[in-house]
Amino acid sequence: MNRVFVCSCFGVTEEQVKSHADAGACTPRQIASVCKAGTDCGGCVRRIQALLGRDAFPRRQPADQGRSPLATEFPEAA
Ligand code: FES
Repeated sequence: MNRVFVCSCFGVTEEQVKSHADAGACTPRQIASVCKAGTDCGGCVRRIQALLGRDAFPRRQPADQGRSPLATEFPEAA
């Protein structure tokens, strides 16, 4: 069996990351919460992100569009 390690700090393999993703983890933070990958040196976070796909990190659309995120969630605060 050929194991490809994604996170050498915690010995997490590519297969494990994919299995957590299949179980519903869709961000590097969620992967970290189930197996700690990415929580030590952080060197594997980009690889985890790549395994999860392009949209793994939530975009900051409200801020990017010049609107306050609070105004989006709480219209009365605008
Ligand atoms: S390689 Fe994953 S936290 Fe260091």
